[in-house]
Amino acid sequence: MSHTSETVIERVTLPVLQRWKQEGKRLVMTTAYDAVTARIADPIVDMILVGDSIGNVCLGFDNTLPVSMAMMNHHLEAVARTRPRALLVADMPFLSYHLSPEETLRNAGGFLQRGADAVKLEGGAKRVEMVRALVDCEIPVMGHLGLTPQSINVMGGFKVQGRKADDALRLLDDAHRLQEAGCFALVLEGIPAELAARATEFLTIPTIGIGGGSRCSGQVLVLHDVLGLTKGHRPRFVRAYTDGYGLLQEALSRWAADVRNGTFPGPEESYRLPEGLGDTIANWRPSDPS
Ligand code: KIV
Repeated sequence: MSHTSETVIERVTLPVLQRWKQEGKRLVMTTAYDAVTARIADPIVDMILVGDSIGNVCLGFDNTLPVSMAMMNHHLEAVARTRPRALLVADMPFLSYHLSPEETLRNAGGFLQRGADAVKLEGGAKRVEMVRALVDCEIPVMGHLGLTPQSINVMGGFKVQGRKADDALRLLDDAHRLQEAGCFALVLEGIPAELAARATEFLTIPTIGIGGGSRCSGQVLVLHDVLGLTKGHRPRFVRAYTDGYGLLQEALSRWAADVRNGTFPGPEESYRLPEGLGDTIANWRPSDPS
């Protein structure tokens, strides 16, 4: 595996993350949903999230609500087979951690048995009981507050959260409660930068921003967004670093054109018969079926 001069090849664990937070090192997390994207991301980032964003990014759903445990397990297994050095976090899908501590434990434990290092779940005070149950069973939990996509029906869409005083104070309180319940890190999504900065200042665990401004301990973006592979509306917090969609379409178009004009495959992409066998096949005739 090759690494650029800037990449860290240390295996990322919870104590390593905590040390980096204390050292003020900015953390980088992105999503991967299969072995290809995991191999692209792993040499570069600190954490890989098998996000339930797979629902809208790859599976054609409008949001994350239809994503099931079966879907998440399938994609987590593909990512885990690449044995990433980055911390591998698996996202708990809608209804997988709401019904009972037993079911929550079974689902999250199944993620760890499939190779995840930690799980992520959305929500604040209401989720503290489940977070405690998981942490008690040695399952590391990343929290997720603010614009939590599994709550779109309550939020009335993908809207920035924490702009009113009581919402902002509730978010800070939730962040503190999640830390006290044992979360090792918190994703802060779609909230004013000042609010994310305040949370980052008083928490001892790292905050990972996505639309939370620059003063979080780290940042996460969906890989397909960074690579410009997603079409249509992009949230304000996304920065695409290349036009992946255009680049890939351009490459595919050149191959299709070569097929159509007869220049693909060329001799270098073709196999040859051993010397002398050409006559043998040239002399072949179909046998009479009767
Ligand atoms: O599912 C996901 O990809 C996420 C991140 C964007 C934080 O939850």
